[in-house]
Amino acid sequence: MTAVGFMAPSSKASGLAGVVAGETAISAVDREGLDLTYRGYSIRDLASQATFEEVVYLLLYEKLPTEEELRFFCQDLVRQRGLPPEVCQILERLPGSANPMDILRTGCSALGAFEPERDPERDQWKVAKRLVACFPSILLYWHRFHRDGQRIETATGEPRTAAHFLSLLRGEREISPLEVRALDVSLILYAEHEFNASTFTCRTIASTLSDFYSAVTGGIGALRGPLHGGANEAAMELILRFKTPDEAEEGICQMLQRKELVMGFGHRVYKKGDPRSRVLKEWAQKLAELRADQRLFPICERIEKVMFREKQLYPNVDFYGALTYYFLGIPIPMFTPLFVIARVAGWSAHIMEQRAHNRLIRPMGEYVGPSPRPYVPMHARS
Ligand code: COA
Repeated sequence: MTAVGFMAPSSKASGLAGVVAGETAISAVDREGLDLTYRGYSIRDLASQATFEEVVYLLLYEKLPTEEELRFFCQDLVRQRGLPPEVCQILERLPGSANPMDILRTGCSALGAFEPERDPERDQWKVAKRLVACFPSILLYWHRFHRDGQRIETATGEPRTAAHFLSLLRGEREISPLEVRALDVSLILYAEHEFNASTFTCRTIASTLSDFYSAVTGGIGALRGPLHGGANEAAMELILRFKTPDEAEEGICQMLQRKELVMGFGHRVYKKGDPRSRVLKEWAQKLAELRADQRLFPICERIEKVMFREKQLYPNVDFYGALTYYFLGIPIPMFTPLFVIARVAGWSAHIMEQRAHNRLIRPMGEYVGPSPRPYVPMHARS
């Protein structure tokens, strides 16, 4: 996916901008668009003090866990990281050249056939935890099989998703705590975000009383697009095109003249900056120092400066999020799948909330087509 060729819309289609589509007690963007809270807790506090697993617990169970609750929860996740052999076989049959988002979408759907949700009231918690636990397994089993020809054991015994992911990706047990924490923080920030396109997709599917896996599979499809989750990959490809900050400045100005979208900038809700981006910029800078990078971080800062000067647009979560993942050595096509690995927590909370207060989501369209007219028989058509 390249950033070139995504044109800014020439006329304003509504895109439901500013429309309140339902109530939620899961997360809130503050009125100034400067903060984001999960169940009332600021992401600034969560990103500096909590772990991803604590945040998943908070989203699913509506409270922060005690130490013992968190330990049981993590043990539960550890137990559910293995994959059924039938799902492994399907992953082996999928092409190694496929888009990893297709792998997660197919893996989620396949798991739903082998481990169906029979009774939503009884099974939905189990399915939510299963998906949080095993999305890294699905992605990395497929990746390592096709890249290295290895059938890896995905049940690593590692309680933290970030460490589990990096150790499966690299095939190493020991990962530096700084790298684990950087990935952990990104997962926290990606975990939930109110009524965005993929979450609304999940809620719409759940509102038909469909099953949990169908709702999440639909969410993955919505997240894949470059205007939503796919922006982190497109942003990284853009950053890598430039060798110096000056080159970046020139390239971005040319893109704006051609009315192209610069991926990783702008946001439907945050018009004064994305609070998640500020946290990830700090992490990208830390990792740039660790990697002794003197090229990419300055290029990003220059792009940020130019975008503000020319368009008054701020970076969103995907811009410095992309750089953070790049410095962690994560292949670019896995950036959006990592978003899925985190966001399945928020999707799950929303599916359960939708089910608890369900009414079919079925809006209306404003008809702008031809007026009623008589049917024209085949022989009379020109
Ligand atoms: N690059 C260049 N121009 C952009 C832009 C970007 N990333 N984002 C917005 N703009 C422009 C719009 O074209 C519009 O210009 P105009 O007034 O001349 O028509 C203006 O800035 C205002 O944009 P707005 O209509 O308020 O944005 P939106 O709410 O419709 O769209 C996004 C929000 C996220 C879809 C949009 O900013 C975008 O496409 N960003 C790039 C993709 C991305 O990073 N997505 C991840 C979001 S977390």
